[in-house]
Amino acid sequence: MAKISREKFKVHEGVFDEFTLKTLEMMKRKHYFDELGRAIKTGKEGDVYFAYRGEKTLAIKIFRMTSANFKKISQYIVRDYRFRNIKGNLRKVILVWAEKEFRNVSLCHKNNITVPYMYKQFNNVIIMDYIFGKMLKDTELKNPLEFFELLIEQMKLVRHEAKLIHGDLSEFNIMVEEELPVLIDWGQGMSIKNEADFEELKEMQIRDVKNITEYFNRNYNLDLDYTQVFERIEKNE
Ligand SMILES: Nc1ncnc2c1ncn2[C@@H]1O[C@H](COP(=O)(O)OP(=O)(O)OP(=O)(O)O)[C@@H](O)[C@H]1O
Ligand SMILES: [Mg+2]
Repeated sequence: MAKISREKFKVHEGVFDEFTLKTLEMMKRKHYFDELGRAIKTGKEGDVYFAYRGEKTLAIKIFRMTSANFKKISQYIVRDYRFRNIKGNLRKVILVWAEKEFRNVSLCHKNNITVPYMYKQFNNVIIMDYIFGKMLKDTELKNPLEFFELLIEQMKLVRHEAKLIHGDLSEFNIMVEEELPVLIDWGQGMSIKNEADFEELKEMQIRDVKNITEYFNRNYNLDLDYTQVFERIEKNE
């Protein structure tokens, strides 16, 4: 049985370690997907692949079990109260990282934030809906100000409903699907349970708001003030 399904991943052998192959086989056996497609993006911390289930196009994010930036990832884990007590080696930390992304996105989804729907996280693999769009950085928006407003609305929901800080928001982690923003890449997202948490992590939120505002200023010749945008999000107005 395992042999047959492994044949299906033959083209990917040498790319995935044994543990990842086993995880993919298991997810396939449980019908989370029928077929793995080509890579959408490969990076040093992980890869994203096309996958298919029936007529549906999916995206599978696979966190690399080896060369991840252990120090950076650990920081984002221990500073989040949900994961504060997690200790362990690189493997453990990567699995927690994948779980953290899954939990963050699920929380966003529950709070009507536009994120890719995530079906399942198992070990270092996450399976989600494929977004038929482009990254913000590769998109020429027809109406940038309108889009920026939509983004602020999303960020208010993230801050006040999901009570999260994305932590790595930029033109690389916002996709544009039919002129609407879809927020991706949530591993570093931090949960904020009270004001003290927020004070401690506030600089991450400021950085997110600054990144986005400056991107719009730079690319669309605008003159938006990121501190005002930050205040608007805080006051939820
Ligand atoms: N659901 C999706 N649908 C379509 N494309 C996706 C989806 N998820 C990710 N991608 C593509 O893959 C790229 C990388 O995904 P993502 O940003 O989640 O991971 P990453 O940047 O490798 O993460 P990290 O920053 O932790 O290394 C995205 O920029 C996007 O182009
Ligand atoms: Mg990314």
